[in-house]
Amino acid sequence: MTDGYYNSKKTDDICEDVCGEQTSRGALTMSRLRCMFRGLDMKTYLFVFVFIPLFIFSVYLHGQKITYFLRPIWESPPQPFNVIPHYYNENVTQETLCKLHGWGIRESPRRVFDAVLFSNEVDILTIRWKELYPYITQFVLLESNSTFTGLPKPLLFSSNRQKFEFVEPRLTYGMIGGRFKKGENPFVEEAYQRVALDQLLRIAGIEDDDLLIMSDVDEIPSAHTINLLRWCDNIPPILHLQLRNYLYSFEYYLDSKSWRASVHRYRSGKTRYAHFRQTDLLLSDSGWHCSFCFRHISDFIFKMKAYSHYDRVRFSHYLNPKRIQDVICNGADLFDMLPEEYTFQEIIGKMGPVPRSYSAVNLPAYLLNNAEDYKYLLPGNCKREGG
Ligand SMILES: *[C@@H]1O[C@H](CO)[C@@H](O)[C@H](O)[C@H]1NC(C)=O
Ligand SMILES: *[C@@H]1O[C@H](CO)[C@@H](O)[C@H](O)[C@H]1NC(C)=O
Repeated sequence: MTDGYYNSKKTDDICEDVCGEQTSRGALTMSRLRCMFRGLDMKTYLFVFVFIPLFIFSVYLHGQKITYFLRPIWESPPQPFNVIPHYYNENVTQETLCKLHGWGIRESPRRVFDAVLFSNEVDILTIRWKELYPYITQFVLLESNSTFTGLPKPLLFSSNRQKFEFVEPRLTYGMIGGRFKKGENPFVEEAYQRVALDQLLRIAGIEDDDLLIMSDVDEIPSAHTINLLRWCDNIPPILHLQLRNYLYSFEYYLDSKSWRASVHRYRSGKTRYAHFRQTDLLLSDSGWHCSFCFRHISDFIFKMKAYSHYDRVRFSHYLNPKRIQDVICNGADLFDMLPEEYTFQEIIGKMGPVPRSYSAVNLPAYLLNNAEDYKYLLPGNCKREGG
């Protein structure tokens, strides 16, 4: 017999004694009520005053997890992409490659413009530009002194410009002052900066049928993908690029579902710089998307604050450097979130840390040629420089 059982037995006994003495009707009702409350045993009190508040508190702590877990109920998956098979081997001629995709080959390649909004990804930008360098006519980069979340930001490209001397003859750089509107949705500042990027592209001299790459700095198309698209005739006017998704470094391979990067055959007056879905066509296996691939812990903290999803930093200890280092080495989530998926099977399959990958095959050439400098991006080096 448990204590709880004794307890409730005793309470019942006391109550019966009291109730038995009552005579008048009103008093009887009152004391019945009182008896009812007294009749509630310890377990009920625990439930009302401990478990229910605990439950409400944990909903507060894990609200995001609960809604994301239930997402398959309240949201259906987006229309699937029409995925175009992608053929490549370095020993196959360009003409054959174009033919394999159902395209013809041109007499001369299209001009290619690579346009990015820069925040603080100095290393990833270097790897990106070195990868694409042979095929890019103009590198167009815009930076602002405001983050999307309206925080003042140092002009990190400007102060590191000497590291990018190799693109200088092909660089169109623009700086735009932030609007610093308090409490505004970060997507508004982001849209404002993308419009400025459209103007910068015109300044860079983009013309009809030039190729324009629209992607974040950390969405890196592979060189051979861009070479294919600039050489082949009759490619679609807009094409999304399917990229391999990595987190923190190329050690944590997530999936191949990154699709936001796109390549456009520019049409003046029509083409607008965007980062949302613009067509159903998706070219398979076209590069890498390395999210939160930073050298310093301080870069992680900056990015978490500057991010359009700043609401995901729900507790200040998320920004604790030691926690961030542990999260990286465990392949866990910086925001303690569940995977954003649309079926229970996928959510459950992706819960928990991202497993380590030991493959450094088919990564950007510049990364492997300078492995010592970029060690932290390669398998087996999750420890970051502090501060
Ligand atoms: C690539 O092509 C060259 C010339 O045709 C040939 O000598 C070489 O063996 C090929 N390499 C591979 C890996 O197929
Ligand atoms: C941002 O840049 C604009 C334009 O150069 C300037 O007027 C403004 O003072 C800058 N703001 C901050 C906080 O640096």
